[in-house]
Amino acid sequence: MKSKALLELLSDGQVHSGESLASRLGVSRTAIWKQIRRAMDEGAEIATIRGRGYRLTSRLDLLDRDSVLECLAPARRGSLFLNVLDEVDSTNAEVLRQIPAGAGKIPVVMADCQTAGRGRRGRVWQSPRGENLYLSIGLTFHGGFGVLDGLSLVLGVAVANALEQLGVPEVGLKWPNDIFLPDGKLGGILVELQGELEEGVVQVIAGIGLNVHMSRTEGVDQPWSSLARACPEIEWSRNQIAGAVIDAVLDAVPVFSDLGFRDFREPWQRRDIFKGKSLQAKGGEIEGVGCGIDDNGNYQIQTTDGVVPVRAGEISLRVMQ
Ligand code: BTN
Repeated sequence: MKSKALLELLSDGQVHSGESLASRLGVSRTAIWKQIRRAMDEGAEIATIRGRGYRLTSRLDLLDRDSVLECLAPARRGSLFLNVLDEVDSTNAEVLRQIPAGAGKIPVVMADCQTAGRGRRGRVWQSPRGENLYLSIGLTFHGGFGVLDGLSLVLGVAVANALEQLGVPEVGLKWPNDIFLPDGKLGGILVELQGELEEGVVQVIAGIGLNVHMSRTEGVDQPWSSLARACPEIEWSRNQIAGAVIDAVLDAVPVFSDLGFRDFREPWQRRDIFKGKSLQAKGGEIEGVGCGIDDNGNYQIQTTDGVVPVRAGEISLRVMQ
């Protein structure tokens, strides 16, 4: 965001003259005026007070690397290679590019907006500036691709834990790993794999998108929710949410690496939004009632012929209308 420094100065909610802003930023008053226009075009609410200057009239939730670090468990801060960007094509793509520079640390990328945000199944993930959380974490696993079974569900449980810790009630999970609130989808997780670099070493990129202040809905084709809409009494900070999500994911990963999916089954089932619902899978070939996941993270449907498992990544489940 070109006007980020300006917005930081205005974020105290006081009136600032064009002259003082210009001198603090080392630019002309005309440049300040242009930046004010641009910031307003990008959604900031700024009042012009005649003869006095400019005042920000709504709260801004700016991304800030130091604030994210402060929200993390202290022991974790030094282990991350954290990049907080203004704009990027996709934070998942950026994590992959950052791995060589990370010197063995865990690469984490956040951005204020994505120009080519990716969703599951090749979909576009709408990523408007300043409104939501776009976060990717690079995770390394040993033991080949086989050890990853159930990982995407584990990530869903971790994100749900983080949100509950921040005060969000009724966080649901839609198999395999969509994050739901009662009024619609709150976020999603995109797990991308990088081939085995050394024998048995697998690089996973966990991309997490959460609707925080989302107001624009062009291109969103299903009921959605946002944290600000579901919990308006909380003053949402994307830095704080990021800290909680990063901690929760990085707490869950070693447990999953050591013990596998087992310990995550119950916390996942508890939040299953398909449980007891009439479902279709494989384009209608399988019909029945949702009855949770098995030990490997497959979704199970109770059909008239018995329980049928549906494998993650293969089929999308639909609630029958
Ligand atoms: C889904 O389709 O539900 C998954 C959406 C995942 C979106 C996130 S936003 C951060 C990361 N970067 C991307 O390009 N996608 C993921």
